[in-house]
Amino acid sequence: MSEKENIEALHRSDFLALDQSIHGHPLVYLDNAATTLKPSVVVESIKNHYAKETANVHRGIHFLSAMGTQKYEATREAVKNLIHSPHLEEVIFTKGTTDAINLVAHSWSEIYLQEGDEILVSTMEHHSNIVPWQIAAQKKGAIVKEIPINDQGEILEDRYQELLSSSKVKMVAMAHVSNTLGTINDVKKYAKWAHEKGAHFLVDGAQSIAHMKVDVQDLDCDFFAFSAHKMFGPTGVGVLWGKKTLLEEMPPYQGGGAMIKEVKFEGTTFNELPEKFEAGTPHIAGVIAFKSAIDYMLEIGLDRISQVEDQLVKYATKKLSEIKGLRIIGTAQDKASVVSFVMEGAHPHDLGMILDEQGVAIRTGHHCTQPLMNRFNVPATARASFCFYNNSEDVDRLVSALKKAQELL
Ligand code: ALA
Repeated sequence: MSEKENIEALHRSDFLALDQSIHGHPLVYLDNAATTLKPSVVVESIKNHYAKETANVHRGIHFLSAMGTQKYEATREAVKNLIHSPHLEEVIFTKGTTDAINLVAHSWSEIYLQEGDEILVSTMEHHSNIVPWQIAAQKKGAIVKEIPINDQGEILEDRYQELLSSSKVKMVAMAHVSNTLGTINDVKKYAKWAHEKGAHFLVDGAQSIAHMKVDVQDLDCDFFAFSAHKMFGPTGVGVLWGKKTLLEEMPPYQGGGAMIKEVKFEGTTFNELPEKFEAGTPHIAGVIAFKSAIDYMLEIGLDRISQVEDQLVKYATKKLSEIKGLRIIGTAQDKASVVSFVMEGAHPHDLGMILDEQGVAIRTGHHCTQPLMNRFNVPATARASFCFYNNSEDVDRLVSALKKAQELL
C-alpha cells in the first residue's frame, strides 16, 4: 500500500458548492469533465446582469444596451487573447462545443464536401464529434471513417497516416483531450499531417481548454471548439474559433436577426464575421460572465492549474491501481486529469450510486462515447475527473468509498 500524499487544492473557498454536504457527507466533486463548478465571481456576474443590467445587445442605443454590448464584446476580446487568435472576428459565440461542431459540419460541408469524400474521426471521439459529421456525410454522400486507437487509448499513428493517404479525406475532426480516457492527443502534429494531404483539421477542445494553454496559431488547426461551462463559466455558451478565410467562405448556419446586412423578399445579404454566425439574441448574461471565468482562470494560471491536476491524477491512478479487481481504462503516456475504470463484479452505475450515498460525485455510463466503449469491450465505465480545487483528501475519499462499494456488492 502506498503512502497517503498531501496535495493542496487551489482557491477551494471560491467555490460555494464545495461547502455543502450530500447525503450527510461533505461533497467530493469529481465530475469536472462533465462540468466544472463556478467560482463566486462568475455567479455574481450572472446575478448582476439580470438584477441590474438586463438589456439586449447590438440592438439599442440606450445606456444599458450599449453597456451590455461593450461587455459582451469584451468577452470576445478575452477569448481572442486566451487562444491567441489572430483576428477578433474569428471568435464566434455558440451554445457550446456541440453547437460549434454542428455549425462547422453543416456550413463547411456545404462548400467543401462532395460525394465520395471522406471525413476522419478517432475512436475516442465524443458523440458530438461523430454524429454531426455523419449527418453532413449522409447529406453529401460522403463517408465518415474511424482512426483507430491502441489498448492504452492512443491514436494509432501509422493507421492514421494510411487513412490520410486517400486523396478523398477532406476533414479530420479530433478531441484535444478525450473526455473518457483523458488521453491528450498531439493535435498540432496531426493537423500538420492532415494539411500535408490537403485536409482541414477541427479540434474538439472541450476537455483541454481549462487544463492547458491553447494557442490556435501554434496548433495551426482550422477550427477549435469549446464550452464555457467546462472552464468555470455558465452553461449554454461556447466558442467556435475558425480561420477567417474558411469562415468567410462558409454559408450561414442559421438565419435570423443580427446575421443579416439587408433583408428583401427578393433576397438577403449576410453580415460580416462574426455576426454572420450569431443569429438571434445570444446568451448575454452567460457570455458576459464567461469573461469573469476566463479572467479568474488566468489569474490562477494554467501552469499552476495543470501542475495540481497532474499531481492529483497521478496520485489517484496510484491509489486506484491498488484496489483489487479495479481496471483503469485509458493509460496513455500523455494524460489529463481524468481516470476511467471498471471494477470486477460491480456495474459502474451501481458504483456511482453507492459513491453518491457517500457524498462522492463521479460520472458513470458511456460518457457519450459508445464506439470507445465497444473498443474496450465494456458497456460503461466509472469516471473520476479532477480540478485544481480538488485535493488529495478527495482522492482518499474516492478510494475509501470504492472499497465500501466493493464490500456491499
Ligand atoms: N461531455 C461531458 C462529459 O464528458 C458532458 O461528461
